[in-house]
Amino acid sequence: MTVITVDTRHPGQQISRNLFGNFSEHLGRCIYGGVYVGEDSPIPNENGMRKDIVEALRKIHLPVLRWPGGCFADEYHWEDGIGPKENRRRMVNTNWGSVVEDNSFGTHEFLELCRQIGCEPYINANVGSGTVREMAEWVEYLNQGADSTLARRRAENGHPEPFGVKYWGVGNESWGCGGNMRPEYYADEFKRYQTYCRTYGPYRLYRIACGPSVNDYRWTEVLMERAGRFMDGLSLHHYTVPGPWEAKGSATVFDEDRYYFTLERADYMEELLRNHIAIMDRFDPEKRVGLIVDEWGTWFDVEPGTNPGFLYQQSTMRDAMVAAITLHIFMRHADRVRMANIAQLINVLQALILTEGEKMLLTPTYHVFDLLQGHMDASSLPCEAACGILPHGMKQVTAAASEKDGVITVTLANLAMTEAEDVELRLDGWQGGACTARILSEEVHAFNTFEQPDRVAPKPLTLQPGADGVIRLSLPACSVVSASFRA
Ligand code: AHR
Repeated sequence: MTVITVDTRHPGQQISRNLFGNFSEHLGRCIYGGVYVGEDSPIPNENGMRKDIVEALRKIHLPVLRWPGGCFADEYHWEDGIGPKENRRRMVNTNWGSVVEDNSFGTHEFLELCRQIGCEPYINANVGSGTVREMAEWVEYLNQGADSTLARRRAENGHPEPFGVKYWGVGNESWGCGGNMRPEYYADEFKRYQTYCRTYGPYRLYRIACGPSVNDYRWTEVLMERAGRFMDGLSLHHYTVPGPWEAKGSATVFDEDRYYFTLERADYMEELLRNHIAIMDRFDPEKRVGLIVDEWGTWFDVEPGTNPGFLYQQSTMRDAMVAAITLHIFMRHADRVRMANIAQLINVLQALILTEGEKMLLTPTYHVFDLLQGHMDASSLPCEAACGILPHGMKQVTAAASEKDGVITVTLANLAMTEAEDVELRLDGWQGGACTARILSEEVHAFNTFEQPDRVAPKPLTLQPGADGVIRLSLPACSVVSASFRA
């Protein structure tokens, strides 16, 4: 039996809505065929953006979207993607399958997508193969109000008003695909590039420096020491890869050991955050600089028969468990983690949505984002789970709680692969009131298909507090529950 205790009397840190952000790269079918089909497509669209996708993302209140990469960002030249489409440069996407990129989705299209979704854009600029001038001019093109040559060009291209972009990445994985740099060299490059990313009118950029890969603590140390005062955020990338790169394993076929190993790799995020944050705290005790986990999620072998460069994988209840574990970890470190972006939005890695022609489906991961929405911008509440330990050292139940506008949200997941768990939920200080809940629960290998798109979907759950105010429920194996209590 698991006992979860929530202290509703002591609200703490605000949980940024941006922890529930996403990432869209020019990779495989994320942009083309995923979100963007073009204005002439028979698939219902508004200005080329699929209506069904936009509607699904509005439903979960997607707060922020990163673009154009990823590795792609450091080969992307923004001027190739503006102006009349027939004149746009056709480049080879050398990172992802060497397909020809026609640049029909560029700056204006990305910002139109964000407008339709109602989310903040986060643009990752090119350091690896770009120039300071190129980056500086992109910022001016986006944010200068009027009259400069670049602002006029933006107006000619259909957007007289400045876009007011705020979140700005200065290079991606500069230790790898973004230029194979040493941290000392990148720290200097970051300082130089960010100097010329100017503030136009009221639009001050939130400058995100390229941070470490997984447990490269030296990278964090060097960046914070040499460039910490010039940045607003430092990124971190960690993927849940349950095996060596050559044999990561199938997304849908796995045994119990691989399942628990996957969860262990996801839970490693907690240790990574603790250690990177300890370093950041030494240089920035006021916690001014945000830790931005702008790539995370599962990475399995691609689906058989699909292009290996497209990173297309299915998403099962195992992915849902990874999402619940990881989002709860971010919430526990919300005083330093200010944004996170799961990789990726559609048809790539741990996607929220899959498409096939005009068909689309929501993955179990999408439903976890849906169930956890109540935590966005809420104040976190102390939440303890006294529970058993699973193989590979995982706690059986992960839980988080928050309060916003008089509503307490508690989310919990039973991570056991096959065993249900009796749970007592104690809300200390809660006087009783209306309660609604939903549950996502299926066998661990279950996933949605285009033939059966709603096999895995949340269902209503009735919760009844006992006379002692304690809520008792049986959590099925591999399930996520979201409960809301009126204070
Ligand atoms: O998300 C796929 C790739 O993973 C990104 O392009 C890169 O930044 C990371 O290595």
